[in-house]
Amino acid sequence: MIRPIASLFFYARFLNSFSTRGYRRAQANWEMLSPDFSNQTWLVSGATGGIGRYTALAANRHGARVIALGRNPDALATLKKEAASPRRLLPVEVDLSSIKAVARLASKPAISSRLVDVLVNNVGVLLNQHEVTDEGFERSFATNILGPYVLTETLRSAQRLAASGLIINVSSGGMYGTPLVGEEMNCTDPNRFDGMAAYARHKRAMVVLTRYWNTRWQGSPSVQVMHPGWVDTAGVQSALPWFRRTLKALLRNAEQGADTILWLAQQRPDPPIDGGIWLDRQCQPEHEFSFTKRARISEQALIDYLQQAAEVALSRGH
Ligand SMILES: NC(=O)c1ccc[n+]([C@@H]2O[C@H](COP(=O)([O-])OP(=O)(O)OC[C@H]3O[C@@H](n4cnc5c(N)ncnc54)[C@H](OP(=O)(O)O)[C@@H]3O)[C@@H](O)[C@H]2O)c1
Repeated sequence: MIRPIASLFFYARFLNSFSTRGYRRAQANWEMLSPDFSNQTWLVSGATGGIGRYTALAANRHGARVIALGRNPDALATLKKEAASPRRLLPVEVDLSSIKAVARLASKPAISSRLVDVLVNNVGVLLNQHEVTDEGFERSFATNILGPYVLTETLRSAQRLAASGLIINVSSGGMYGTPLVGEEMNCTDPNRFDGMAAYARHKRAMVVLTRYWNTRWQGSPSVQVMHPGWVDTAGVQSALPWFRRTLKALLRNAEQGADTILWLAQQRPDPPIDGGIWLDRQCQPEHEFSFTKRARISEQALIDYLQQAAEVALSRGH
């Protein structure tokens, strides 16, 4: 009983900002975006659907060469066909929940031969079914946080990220419901798995990871974290059908969800020194409730945990 009441309270709290209402209100004060991304290379994960797909096509339309990561070859082929410039849309097939496959991306010809100016860590899944990958990780943990960690770290170590580049991490407003936690993020016990809680934890970790990378890399490249609000995508349809049914009229479209990604890449604001998360072109606080400020692990412990998990995956012979 407590869970439904807490969820109701949570959704009511954010209804006016995360919905299309919040977008429309914010948009009233905006200039139209007219970015010029020519001569830039973008790398977008989860580019075959939803917000990632809109981002990849929009960046391509505005002049960028876009390396599009997805696991579905037909959807990648369609994406290329629909691009304003198919020549500048380079599909790369990869299962982003496989840490070994993610670590190998930096050496794929589409990526190893150029510098990435904008990396959009967009892929994210909320899974209601518990699944463990061949590498032994709960699948949403591998997809949502360990994979992006490994992708970003390996690209930077391989010097594939432009020094003046930008990394945009796509988090979620769901992270407002949890403090930072440690190994509970990777719930390998099916009896204890709660897909929604797991997703929120990964998205909180992404905010902390953003701050960590900015401190470590000092702007070379710079890192931003944003969330798109509530967007009507296939992901929401399959993960949260009741939520979609109830709020359908108030959900954003993919263009509205992707707006802040494109705006960050065009405007290049400095990442907020004390942290924060972008929504609708404005930096918002990282916490809305005081209980989430009580992190259960330190930032360094999070990094150590991710690094150790990555090393375990990469050392195993699959
Ligand atoms: N939609 C929202 O309301 C909302 C709210 C807050 C945050 N977000 C965040 O925004 C991001 C995009 O969400 P979305 O709603 O656009 O998601 P989506 O509709 O589910 O699209 C996700 C894309 O990622 C791909 N993908 C998933 N797992 C993959 C894997 N293991 N390997 C390769 N590709 C994979 C999917 O491909 P397949 O078709 O092959 O599965 C799909 O193309 C996520 O990080 C999400 O957490 C979304």
